[in-house]
Amino acid sequence: MQKIHAAITAVNGYVPEYILTNKELEGMVDTNDEWITSRTGIKERRILKGHFGTSEMAVHAVNGLLKKRGISADEIDLIIFCTTTPDMAFPASANILADKIGAINAWGYDLNAACSGFVFGLTTGSQFIESGKHQKVLVVGGDKMSSIINYKDRSSCIIFGDGCGAVLLEPNTEGYGVIDSILRSDGSGGQYLKQNAGGSLNPASHETIDNDDHYLYQEGQAVFKFAVTNMADVAAEVMERNNLSSEDVDWLVPHQANKRIIDATTNRTGLSSDKVMVNIEKYGNTTNGTIPLCLWEWEGKVKKGDNLILAAFGGGFTWGSVYLKWAY
Ligand code: UT7
Repeated sequence: MQKIHAAITAVNGYVPEYILTNKELEGMVDTNDEWITSRTGIKERRILKGHFGTSEMAVHAVNGLLKKRGISADEIDLIIFCTTTPDMAFPASANILADKIGAINAWGYDLNAACSGFVFGLTTGSQFIESGKHQKVLVVGGDKMSSIINYKDRSSCIIFGDGCGAVLLEPNTEGYGVIDSILRSDGSGGQYLKQNAGGSLNPASHETIDNDDHYLYQEGQAVFKFAVTNMADVAAEVMERNNLSSEDVDWLVPHQANKRIIDATTNRTGLSSDKVMVNIEKYGNTTNGTIPLCLWEWEGKVKKGDNLILAAFGGGFTWGSVYLKWAY
């Protein structure tokens, strides 16, 4: 019997309308367009305005995806919602999303691996397809980073933005889909990128609010050092393990955290820059959203049979890479 692979059969994305430019940030913190552009590659990012959580962006992304694929929400078996900014601690945003879109036959859960969440979720979701357990698995990656960003901290507020993407996984027996993945984590790096309060260790209190502990905390240089080597190494490792040279790879889909980290991964894998999906200048770092948003934007250019290498690094530390063969 032919091996079952989990193939991406549809992709869609959603970014909020409001554009927060470098110029506008210049009026909020002591920064400038030249510094942000040269140190990160970011020109603007999207911000979700109004009383909405991350699931609202997912509703837009997933409803569009279902329409594209021509299926209804009640056909979905499982929803894996990769996010670091769920609507609330519980219920899971996967359950909130299922209710909003009418996925009445799906079970679901949230997956939190910070910026590596989407590659962790894609790998996890694939297992349910490969085992024959499920036929239709939705992997959603999205974050409303603006909900945990301190817009007085110039080193972090310039990087992050809001956005969400989603893919549908279905069985394929012709060799297309997720072929291999390498996932890693190192909890000793947790101290460098975290949200200190709001969990069971430091529940919300007047003191945690006064200390700005509900905002994202990042030691940028420490994170950069780990990200720049590990994301590049893991992408190269998955290529080596599958005997792929840079000529064999059609697309590199890197997490969009910093253009300098993307460039290091591009150099390490030996790919030419025209094969690398980069939209960091428009959206900044949308955490779980970056990779599916790239797939969405490049969907029209990617061809059936193309070899894609996805790579991410994030808080935890977590990092990983996925090798997949595009199915349509
Ligand atoms: O998504 C996955 C996890 N996150 C990442 O991968 C992010 C990794 N880190 C980074 O991308 C970079 O470290 C940052 C973009 C966050 C910061 O860039 P950097 O080149 O590492 O800057 P730095 O923190 O070393 O700061 C250099 C200087 C400092 O000034 P002094 O001390 O040299 O006078 C900062 O205060 O730049 C200053 N600075 C700024 N200046 C203007 C920091 N932020 C800004 C700013 N505008 N927005």
